[in-house]
Amino acid sequence: MIKVGVIGCGYWGPNLIRNLNGLPECELIAIADLDQSRLDHLARLYPATQTTTDHTEITDHPDIDAVIVATPMGTHYELGRQVLEAGKHLFLEKPMATSSDDCRKLIAIADERNLQLMVGHTFLYASPVRKIKELIDSGELGDIYYVNFSRVNLGIFQKDANVVWDLAPHDISMICYLFGDCPVRVSAQGHCYVQRDLGIEDVAFVALEFGDGRLAHIHVSWLDPNKIRRATFVGSRKMLVYDDISASEKIRVFDKGVDVQPHYDTFGEFQLLYRSGDVFIPHLDTTEPLKTEMSHFIDAIEGRDTLLSSGRDGLRVVQVLEKACESIRKDGLPMDLVYDS
Ligand SMILES: NC(=O)c1ccc[n+]([C@@H]2O[C@H](COP(=O)([O-])OP(=O)(O)OC[C@H]3O[C@@H](n4cnc5c(N)ncnc54)[C@H](O)[C@@H]3O)[C@@H](O)[C@H]2O)c1
Repeated sequence: MIKVGVIGCGYWGPNLIRNLNGLPECELIAIADLDQSRLDHLARLYPATQTTTDHTEITDHPDIDAVIVATPMGTHYELGRQVLEAGKHLFLEKPMATSSDDCRKLIAIADERNLQLMVGHTFLYASPVRKIKELIDSGELGDIYYVNFSRVNLGIFQKDANVVWDLAPHDISMICYLFGDCPVRVSAQGHCYVQRDLGIEDVAFVALEFGDGRLAHIHVSWLDPNKIRRATFVGSRKMLVYDDISASEKIRVFDKGVDVQPHYDTFGEFQLLYRSGDVFIPHLDTTEPLKTEMSHFIDAIEGRDTLLSSGRDGLRVVQVLEKACESIRKDGLPMDLVYDS
């Protein structure tokens, strides 16, 4: 039985707590938040769980084996460091930290103490994303040419991070997982329309280039009339649209494409052959991604599994975010990405 503590129960923490609480192999011991009203709310839902406004009561708790940190990103490094230094396994929400140097420090402490360090890249635990991975790996879509992500809605405007740090970790972690590779170059453009005085970009367009020529484009915005969570994958055989907002048809596979006629002698004979066949809607497992995510963390602690979103994966995402923001500051200048070995 793994005994767990949680630091941070604002908007996101309670979702993690609900899924943790349903797992038979773990016990929720204590929850910390600076806001007493949040603790009062959680205490009504989980009367057997201790609550505190002092997170050191979690890090110093003798019975707690593992800690979930779901606080704002600016606090991730310091809270994460304290958890690991107290000898406890750590699940840290995304993005892992606000700099790659801080990520490296956390990885070093976890390695030194042989502790699990997992980052909350939730989409890796979502059944549509796993289905897309299956379809890509099986060759069903052919060679992937490019992917286009849209993650836009109105708000919520953050005060401590721009829209790239807030929203793009999902798409960057997803594309690295799906391609089994990380981008070699990033360029980005972004603008501060609303929080101009604070210099916080609310809209950004991030372009990623992979070593084999594949491209990914990510549009993130807090300034859009529609909530859109969509990714379009264009392959040489088929095309796929992932709409995370759709209740029943999250993935649609289109048997559509363009072929070049194999033989032609003159330019006049050159023809493109357009294919437009059936649309296939795969059946998806309905398990809540956070349940899979929490269960994976416990499995890794108990030695049954290897982390899919480890500290090293979290670091690579932060490296892409850092370079994307550097590119924004340099008017879209392409930035090379070099990862730690
Ligand atoms: N994986 C996902 O899909 C996903 C979705 C939403 C948010 N998140 C991540 O979850 C984290 C929290 O986001 P949120 O939207 O819940 O923020 P939030 O502001 O709603 O909640 C954060 C909570 O942390 C508490 N807190 C801050 N410092 C603390 C400390 N030292 N000790 C105890 N409590 C402390 C605050 O009082 C607050 O209640 C962020 O890293 C965010 O990126 C992840």
